[in-house]
Amino acid sequence: MKVSIRILEHPDELAEVERLQAQVWTGSEVEIVPVHMLVAVVHNGGLVIGAFVAEEGEPAGKLAGFVFGFPGLVQTPDGLHLKHHSHMMGVHPQYRGQQIGFALKRAQWQMVRHQGLNHITWTYDPLLSRNAHLNITRLGTVCNTYLEDEYGTLRDGLNLGLPSDRFQVDWWVNSARVNRRLSRSARPALDLAHYYAGGAQVLNPTRQDASGWPVPGGDDFATAQIDPAERPLLLVEIPSDFHALKAASTELAAAWRKHTRRLFTELFQMGYLVTDFVYLPGTHPRSFYVLTYGESTL
Ligand SMILES: CC(C)(COP(=O)(O)OP(=O)(O)OC[C@H]1O[C@@H](n2cnc3c(N)ncnc32)[C@H](O)[C@@H]1OP(=O)(O)O)[C@@H](O)C(=O)NCCC(=O)NCCS
Repeated sequence: MKVSIRILEHPDELAEVERLQAQVWTGSEVEIVPVHMLVAVVHNGGLVIGAFVAEEGEPAGKLAGFVFGFPGLVQTPDGLHLKHHSHMMGVHPQYRGQQIGFALKRAQWQMVRHQGLNHITWTYDPLLSRNAHLNITRLGTVCNTYLEDEYGTLRDGLNLGLPSDRFQVDWWVNSARVNRRLSRSARPALDLAHYYAGGAQVLNPTRQDASGWPVPGGDDFATAQIDPAERPLLLVEIPSDFHALKAASTELAAAWRKHTRRLFTELFQMGYLVTDFVYLPGTHPRSFYVLTYGESTL
């Protein structure tokens, strides 16, 4: 299978993006960004990038993924700064896990640097392990912004039933960290042993319920008792497959939302920053955010 990446600008190509959105965010037409809006965005500094897949010998490929974003403004102590805000990325379920998402983000990184900007932001549900692995581990974003119910009620099949809490990640596209993660000699992902060796502890050790689903480690943690100077590295566990957990129990999913909302909000207020993510695949996969306070050598 050959994957080619290109910028999309014509209404006919953008209509394919509209169709693909309906396949990724099923069940609600109102959550889809229509062609006219995509055209307006790309004619005003925004970017829609598509990934096309073709089998050997096939001349034209079919759209398997896209990423879409636009320039935005961010308030800083030095005044307003320009950034790119990446609003949506979707890969058709049939083509996931084949680095198409990574390739789309890499192309976006190149284009935005070409526009002379050094900062890209986007939001994602912090309980989604796959997205966290891609965004934090592979792409090198960092996060200290927790947005509560950012989009209000979302009615599509992926989001229905829970408040739309989000991490907003920062992608410093000219930083050494990001350049290294995107280079051919990217550092291998670190595992728990590396972080345990660095003194990290899991803040919310989970247990499993009778059906094997992870249950958040109680809400009795007291972040006020943590001295960040003494504990510069923390691990926070999340479910490895939140969509499956939510399909099995909306109540448990809501408990995870409540638990992680409080935890991350408090930790970000204390000055912690999400700098890495550890995903341990296998029969019982597990997933952990790594939070750092101050300087970290890891
Ligand atoms: C998020 C999304 C765009 C990623 O696309 P993709 O093409 O599958 O992404 P990639 O293959 O480049 O990267 C996925 C990574 O997650 C890993 N992964 C798979 N399941 C995982 C899990 N449960 N936990 C952690 N990582 C996981 C994959 O192994 C891969 O990493 P690798 O390249 O190191 O092997 C796609 O899953 C999607 O369309 N999701 C629904 C819409 C969405 O959430 N969009 C983003 C917010 S707008």
